[in-house]
Amino acid sequence: MQRQNSQQGRIDRKSVLVTGGAGFIGSHLCERLIEAGHEVICLDNFFTGTKRNIEHLIGHSRFELLRHDVTFPLYVEVDEIYNLACPASPIHYQHDPVQTTKTSVHGAINMLGLAKRLRCRILQASTSEVYGDPAIHPQTEDYWGNVNPIGPWSCYDEGKRCAETLFFDYLRQHRLEIKVARIFNTYGPRMHPNDGRVVSNFVVQALKGEPITIYGDGSQTRSFCYVDDLVDGLMRLMGTAADFTGPVNLGNPGEFTIRRLAEMVIDMTGSKSSLIAKPLPADDPRQRQPDIALAKRTLGWEPRIPLKDGLKLTIAYFDRLLRGTSVETAS
Ligand SMILES: NC(=O)c1ccc[n+]([C@@H]2O[C@H](COP(=O)([O-])OP(=O)(O)OC[C@H]3O[C@@H](n4cnc5c(N)ncnc54)[C@H](O)[C@@H]3O)[C@@H](O)[C@H]2O)c1
Repeated sequence: MQRQNSQQGRIDRKSVLVTGGAGFIGSHLCERLIEAGHEVICLDNFFTGTKRNIEHLIGHSRFELLRHDVTFPLYVEVDEIYNLACPASPIHYQHDPVQTTKTSVHGAINMLGLAKRLRCRILQASTSEVYGDPAIHPQTEDYWGNVNPIGPWSCYDEGKRCAETLFFDYLRQHRLEIKVARIFNTYGPRMHPNDGRVVSNFVVQALKGEPITIYGDGSQTRSFCYVDDLVDGLMRLMGTAADFTGPVNLGNPGEFTIRRLAEMVIDMTGSKSSLIAKPLPADDPRQRQPDIALAKRTLGWEPRIPLKDGLKLTIAYFDRLLRGTSVETAS
């Protein structure tokens, strides 16, 4: 719970629950919250997350790990909740689509119920997928999206849309302090090596010297946000005035073609991998780019880490992972 800082006479330490805390983004968030002096309860069912991602935090006096599934109710005492629990890559969320929808929807209901009981702030990690295959570029928060409700990706997209609905209904009905972040493609160390996402795919294929798979002709564009920038945005959003709810886009508006990304990875790894083309999957958007004007205005936030710098750190991480050497240093 909140503690008084006796020297400065102000409250600065909070107890924070991070669901999905052993995942890619969640583990970086736990780390940053600990660095900022908070107490962290990291909740995870280890579906896609791993203890390796947070092993350097285990044993820290302000860090607690809780194995729990958000589809079941939870009773803990905290000041803030970041709700990140949900598999984020198509390979993982299509593995058990019913469980994916349950995680988004029942997970949101359970975490909102907890926030209601504690009267605490709660932030939802939503996604650019709520825009579906967007008819406008770049996407602004007032765009309602173009989502297929019955396709193979719908468990994720519609689950996340329903979670947003629940957040805003808890705001209207129970006056909860909610924050909704729409996260765009994020990359960095601790991404799952086999989750089929483009950055991890390319880096792992290049490091193994395997052909790099490009879907379609590679001219489709994506924007990539380095995880440190994203976590900074999430923490700023949590700290906004009570009446700011979002949804707010968090992502990097810089666009790169998939082919360009593949070439950069080959160049930076010094790999001899070739590029091979495969057909584009159904529903794959041609372009995905955030409009971050709202985040700039309200959070004073924009990504700072160039793709090249973020890729360097990501390549170094996967290189250590594939060599089987320790990937985290204790702090
Ligand atoms: N990485 C991205 O580019 C991206 C983009 C948009 C949105 N997001 C959102 O951000 C959040 C984190 O994504 P990530 O990339 O770190 O993915 P991730 O798969 O690495 O992390 C998700 C974590 O949630 C845990 N989890 C899954 N189901 C759970 C359940 N029922 N109960 C408890 N824990 C559960 C997993 O074990 C994992 O540790 C997700 O909600 C995702 O939808 C991520």
